[in-house]
Amino acid sequence: MSINVLLIGSGGREHTLAWGIAKSPLLKKLYTAPGNPGTESLGENVNLDVSDHAAVLDFVRSNDIDLTVIGPEQPLVEGIADVLENAGHKVFGPKQQAAMLEGSKEFAKDFMARNAIPTAAYKVFDQDNFDEAAEYIKSQNSYPVVLKADGLAGGKGVLIPESEEEAMNALTELKSGSLSDAASRLVIEEFMVGEEASVFAICDGDSYKIIGNAQDHKRAGGGDTGLNTGGMGAYSPAPIVTEKLLERTEIEIIKPTIDGMKAEGYPYTGFLYVGLMITEEGPKVVEYNCRFGDPECQVIIPSLQTDLLEVLIACTEGKLSESEITFDDQYRCTVVLASGGYPQAYEKGKEITGVDEADALIFHAGTRSEDGKLLTNGGRVLNVVGSGSTLKEAIDASYASVEKITFDKMYYRRDIGAKGLKRIG
Ligand code: AMP
Ligand code: GLY
Repeated sequence: MSINVLLIGSGGREHTLAWGIAKSPLLKKLYTAPGNPGTESLGENVNLDVSDHAAVLDFVRSNDIDLTVIGPEQPLVEGIADVLENAGHKVFGPKQQAAMLEGSKEFAKDFMARNAIPTAAYKVFDQDNFDEAAEYIKSQNSYPVVLKADGLAGGKGVLIPESEEEAMNALTELKSGSLSDAASRLVIEEFMVGEEASVFAICDGDSYKIIGNAQDHKRAGGGDTGLNTGGMGAYSPAPIVTEKLLERTEIEIIKPTIDGMKAEGYPYTGFLYVGLMITEEGPKVVEYNCRFGDPECQVIIPSLQTDLLEVLIACTEGKLSESEITFDDQYRCTVVLASGGYPQAYEKGKEITGVDEADALIFHAGTRSEDGKLLTNGGRVLNVVGSGSTLKEAIDASYASVEKITFDKMYYRRDIGAKGLKRIG
């Protein structure tokens, strides 16, 4: 058997998935839409508008695509998997209703309540009833409080006001600012105290396997300061995720999630990303995502010793329980090289040098090539992934390669993994 694969997406996560898929002897040809120069080196990039589901279906039909793998959340929440599957094509990624675990915070919270999955206490309000939300906030006398837009908001839909005044401003922002569409429904929840970590599972609708854990670095600045970003770096495995914690996460969260989705009629297929708060009472869900994390994917997929494509196919056939997935015992760290200014305004089109001299795995994100040169083309530009038998070795390997790469106004955090090292002592 050898198959044609279409991969949807263009970030560091997708280059990593493409790299994993391209290693498989089962692959005939890999297409990535729209892809980046990293995926171009592993197959063919195609200029498809992925929000045009009819165009994607047409491409799948006319290019004999045997499997479509969806990287980002947006097309999943928009129902791309349903369109392809209903037309008889294999897709790795959840259908629209299952993707609501990420697409609607209200759905996710209500689902967790129905299935006794530990998470922050919450209440949901309608945008037309924001007065009620204001009353509710005023009746809480402990701060911070957490306000979340129900819908997808590109990582910007969570506000954590520290006082009543800030909370009222946050409410106004959600009602009338750029988030007002995503916030037509609003979740107000308890602030959980603890450290965050992410656990990832791969699922076939019926069963699941845990494939790794990681810690992301969401803030732009060192010491977790500054604005929120898509993620400035990650490392895996995370020392905070002990065997005992992982066991509790599996029993209290992952298994009931997969079983609950199946029982409620939305069997979950694809990667499941569980964002956890490790509280004094144990792990609680901060959020679900219906896809792999970016940049967490970059430090987990390379640890797979099993053929990634074989596992993806097994999931689409409901045969995951027959696959044995094995991993190496390395630590990995990825440092994201960003354009200066990100996550706010930044310049593009800067020439990148030194990528070939780097000793680490390099996964592209916001890059493009022109006349044989590699140029910056986004906020997060490259991922530099080092590995080693200890976390320290992995971190050092990443930063040694980071030093070889340059572009004008390149910015990166210098403390990726420091939290993990501190925990190990
Ligand atoms: P989310 O988009 O739901 O992951 O939220 C973004 C970030 O807000 C999370 O990564 C946490 O750092 C923080 N956050 C969200 N919900 C809570 C909560 N209930 N308690 C504490 N922090 C939270
Ligand atoms: N790294 C955070 C995310 O993928 O949402």
